[in-house]
Amino acid sequence: MLGGFGDFFLLVGVTLGSILLNLFFLILSPVIVLYVKYGGVGNRLKRQMPLPRVPRCVFITGASSGVGEALAYEYCKRARKQQVQDLVLYLTGRNATRLDQVCERCRELGASKVHALVVDVADEAAMREAITKADQERPLDLVIANAGVSVTNTGLMEESKSGATGYERSKKLLDVNIYGALYTIWPALDCMIARQRGGQIAINASIASYIAGPLNMSYSASKAAVRFYGESLRTAMAPLGIRVNTILLGFVESRMTEPLKNRHGRLPFAKSAEEAATSLANQIERDVGVIEYPAWPFGVLGEWLNAAPPLVREWIWSMVMGRMVTRAERKLRKRQAADVNIADSGTSTKYAILTRLVEKLI
Ligand SMILES: NC(=O)c1ccc[n+]([C@@H]2O[C@H](COP(=O)([O-])OP(=O)(O)OC[C@H]3O[C@@H](n4cnc5c(N)ncnc54)[C@H](OP(=O)(O)O)[C@@H]3O)[C@@H](O)[C@H]2O)c1
Repeated sequence: MLGGFGDFFLLVGVTLGSILLNLFFLILSPVIVLYVKYGGVGNRLKRQMPLPRVPRCVFITGASSGVGEALAYEYCKRARKQQVQDLVLYLTGRNATRLDQVCERCRELGASKVHALVVDVADEAAMREAITKADQERPLDLVIANAGVSVTNTGLMEESKSGATGYERSKKLLDVNIYGALYTIWPALDCMIARQRGGQIAINASIASYIAGPLNMSYSASKAAVRFYGESLRTAMAPLGIRVNTILLGFVESRMTEPLKNRHGRLPFAKSAEEAATSLANQIERDVGVIEYPAWPFGVLGEWLNAAPPLVREWIWSMVMGRMVTRAERKLRKRQAADVNIADSGTSTKYAILTRLVEKLI
């Protein structure tokens, strides 16, 4: 067993080691990038199955609003520009009215067939049926696992008001964001593998997957899970000619981020859903493995945070948590009579504020 000094030296050793390793990769990165891009191990593994420049058949989950909706329009515009006459879209969501409006707009933009599928991504059987049926009608070129929730959008905040516990909200979020993505990916893979003609799957994770801090824990964890899955799947599927792209978005204006914008007045460095969709479609076409958008500042800061030694990350997040605690205390103090000092009003009150704060973060 290590004593106090032993622990200290171990910590310093691990931190220094991780800094040196990061420096090593930083210096070596340009060489690795060139090697993988021009004839190295990456290309050797990949079986190059020709895919059409503009996909003819696209399946998008969560296309009833935001990024998914904008991607649907983007593929219609691309098809029109490239004079593709036979674009088929399968668009999913739970809100039938919004989904129908999106489908109508896609038809106006020239898509030859647009199918609206009202299905919950967390329903495994329904997703398998929807994707298999779509693929039988017309082989899917591109499947985008885009549907997702955060505590800020659809329902989860209302549930917190109606008394659902943090754990219940967390479970719902994890179900949609992790299993919803997997229930999209798995049947799509089965169809593509059986066909032996390749295909492409894009998975919408998030820059939040780099954030292991007390901000939106379940969301970050769910997105980290799908990011890891997507990155691993890309290399595993390369020999079968199936391309897998993982998308990491920073702030994009949508129904998901609207409550944040309303609360804070603005979303720093936010992009519109249309801007995001154009860049995503470009990068999916170029088969970029991990798509960070916007690359600055979200991609760069996310990468940096991810590469920092654990102790540095802990220090950063402790400061953030400290600020949140101070703010929560200040709020409570304001609500109480001006002469009541929260520090003097007993641990139980202070502990109650902290418990409420933590419950929100779960
Ligand atoms: N906006 C950002 O800043 C941002 C940043 C990073 C990552 N992302 C990711 O980007 C993706 C799209 O988000 P967005 O910003 O476009 O938000 P959005 O406008 O709220 O869109 C979310 C979409 O997901 C669908 N959806 C939610 N739960 C579903 C469920 N259980 N079953 C089926 N569909 C469901 C919604 O459809 P219904 O409402 O019809 O159910 C909607 O079409 C999400 O995965 C999100 O995590 C967004």
